[in-house]
Amino acid sequence: MYRTHTCGELKLENAGQTVELAGWVQTVRKFGAITFVDLRDRYGITQLLFGEDLNAQLESNPLGREFVLQAKGTVSERSNKNKNIPTGGIEILIQSFSILNKSAVPPFTIQDDTDGGDDLRMKYRYLDLRRNAVKKNLELRYAVNRSARNYLHEQGFYDIETPFLIKSTPEGARDFVVPSRMNPGEFYALPQSPQTFKQLLMVSGYDRYYQVVKCFRDEDLRADRQPEFTQIDCEMAFVEQEDILNMFEALVKRIFKDVRGLDYTEPVERISWEDAMWNYGNDKPDIRFGMKIANLKFPLHVFTSKIAFLQNSPLGDESAAGFAVFDSAETVVAISVPGGSEYSRKQTDEITEWVKRPQIGMKGLAFIKCGTDGTYKSSMDKFFDAEKLKAIAGATGAQAGDIVLILAGNEERTRKAVSELRLEMAKRLGLRKSNEFKLLWVLDFPLFEYDEESNRWVARHHPFTSPKPQDIQVMINNDPAIKDAAKYLEHPYANIKANAYDIVLNGNEIGGGSIRIYQRALQEKMFAALGMSKEEALHKFGFLLGAFEYGAPPHGGIAFGFDRLCAILGGSESIRDFIAFPKNNSGRDVMLDAPSTIDKKQLEELQIKTAGKS
Ligand code: AMO
Repeated sequence: MYRTHTCGELKLENAGQTVELAGWVQTVRKFGAITFVDLRDRYGITQLLFGEDLNAQLESNPLGREFVLQAKGTVSERSNKNKNIPTGGIEILIQSFSILNKSAVPPFTIQDDTDGGDDLRMKYRYLDLRRNAVKKNLELRYAVNRSARNYLHEQGFYDIETPFLIKSTPEGARDFVVPSRMNPGEFYALPQSPQTFKQLLMVSGYDRYYQVVKCFRDEDLRADRQPEFTQIDCEMAFVEQEDILNMFEALVKRIFKDVRGLDYTEPVERISWEDAMWNYGNDKPDIRFGMKIANLKFPLHVFTSKIAFLQNSPLGDESAAGFAVFDSAETVVAISVPGGSEYSRKQTDEITEWVKRPQIGMKGLAFIKCGTDGTYKSSMDKFFDAEKLKAIAGATGAQAGDIVLILAGNEERTRKAVSELRLEMAKRLGLRKSNEFKLLWVLDFPLFEYDEESNRWVARHHPFTSPKPQDIQVMINNDPAIKDAAKYLEHPYANIKANAYDIVLNGNEIGGGSIRIYQRALQEKMFAALGMSKEEALHKFGFLLGAFEYGAPPHGGIAFGFDRLCAILGGSESIRDFIAFPKNNSGRDVMLDAPSTIDKKQLEELQIKTAGKS
C-alpha cells in the first residue's frame, strides 16, 4: 500500500491521525527552514509541511514539479486556512518521504489556466489530462455515460456489441477502410454507425437495443466533429415516432437531472423542418432566444405552405420598387436586434464586414434603425419612404430602439447567412448562455435531397428511413428520374417527407433517428430511387433485404452524439475537450504521430502498393 488516504479527503476531523499519501508534486515553496509542498492526485490537493529535520534529506533529494512522491505524516490544523479547497483546513506534518519517480520539467504548467498552446497540450496529452479542467470534463463524460446506461437498463434495453470490421454503412461520409491480409485486395469498412446491425437485431427479436459505441467517419472536421466519435445508439421494435420521442426525451431529461441536477420538466418543443428553416434559417435552431427571421421575399417552391406570408410581405411578391439589390434577389430576409438603433456607423460597418466574410459570403447588409423617437433611419433611405421602412421593420416585429438587419441574395446562401447572423448577434447580446439548456425536436424532414453533382437523389438521413405513410404511394408511383436538373424541386420526390427526427440542444444537433423501412419491396424501391441498380443493392445490402423476408417487425431508433452532448452540458463548443485522446483538425493524433506510413513488409503482406509516401 502506497497510501492510506487520497489527496482530496483529509479534513479537520482527521487531525492527529498518521497518514500516508502518494501523488504528484504541484508546487514546492521554501520558507527559511521549512518547505511546503502541494501534493496532487485525481481527488484533490493536500498541503505537506516538511520541517527543519527533513532539510538535509530534501537537499540531497530535491523535489521538482510533477515528481511522484510518497509521504507519511500527521494531519494537523492549518493556521493559514485555504477556503477554496476541501482539504484547506489541514496540512500534513511530514515524518518521512520517498521519491517514487522523478519528472522532467513539464512542457507547460499543470494548472487550470495553463501556458500550453493547443498543439503542445495534444502532444503531451497525458500531462494535459492531469489538469483539473480536463479531468472535470472526463468526469462529466463518465457521469453522462452512467446516467444513460442506468436509464436504458431500467427501460429494458440490452447493450449488445456490434462489429467494427464490416462492410460500408452509408451515413453520408466517406468510410475508413481496413485491408484484409487473409483476403488480399479486399477491404473492410469501419462502421459510420451500427445502423444495419441494430436493425438486424430488431429482426432477431431484441426489441430494445442500445450501445455506447465508436463510429468512424472520414469527413472534414470541425469543432463538433471528430473522425472517430461516440454515439449512444438505440433501436426499438413495435414503435411509432411518438414512442421514440417520448422514450428519448426522457433519457436526455434524466441525464440533465443526474449530471447537472437540472429539472427539465416542461415537454420538449417540436417544430417541423420547414418551420425551422423558415423561422431560424437552419434545421438545428437555438431557441433560447427569439429574434425570428422575417421572410420578406422567398422562393415559393421551397416554402410551399407559406404563400399567405408572401402576399402580406411589405416587399410583395413582385419587385421591391426600384431597389436593385432586392429586386434581383431570390430571397430577402431580416432580423431585428434589440437596442441596435443606437449602433454607430462604425458598428454597422463592422457587422457589414462580418456578413461579407468568406464563411458567410454575402455582398452586403441593409439596415433600418427604429429610433426611440419614432423615426426610421436606413441605409436604403433613397429607395424606400418612411412608410415602407416602417412596414418592413414591422414585419420583423421590431420595437422602437431596435435595428433591423436585412440580407438579400440566393435562397440557400442568404438563409444560411441570416441564421449565422442571428446566432452572432445573440452571442454579442449575451443571449446564448452556456448554463441555460433548451431542447427541441425537429420533425418532418424531407426524405430526399437532390445532388446536382451526381444528378440523383440522395437520402437526407440514410437509405433505411421510411417515408411518411401518406408519401409511400408517391414514392412507389413516381419514377425518380429527372430530365431537367434545374427543375428538381418540381419533382414529386422533392416534397416527400421522412419519418425522421433530430433532437437539438442549444442550436446543436445532439441526436437523430428515424422510423425504418421494414418491407423488402419498399427498401428496394428506396435503393432504386437513390440510383442503385438491383445488382448493386444486392451486393451492398443483400443481407438486410434478405432479413426483411423473415418477419421483420416495424422498428425505429435514434443515435445521440455522445461527445457533443457532453460538451454542451460542460458548457463548451469543442468536443475535443471531452475526449481523452482526440485528433486535431487535420485528423492527426499528434501524440502518437498517426496516421503514419507502415513497413514495406506489411504492405507486401497486404498486397498494397502506395503511390505516395512509403
Ligand atoms: P447521425 O448521422 O445523425 O445518425 O448521427 C447521430 C449523431 O451523432 C453525432 N455525430 C457526430 N459527432 C461527432 N463527430 C462526428 N463526426 C459526428 N457525426 C455525427 C451527431 C448526430 O446527431 N445511424 C443514424 C442514427 C439512427 O438513424 O438511428 C446516425 O448515425 O450528434
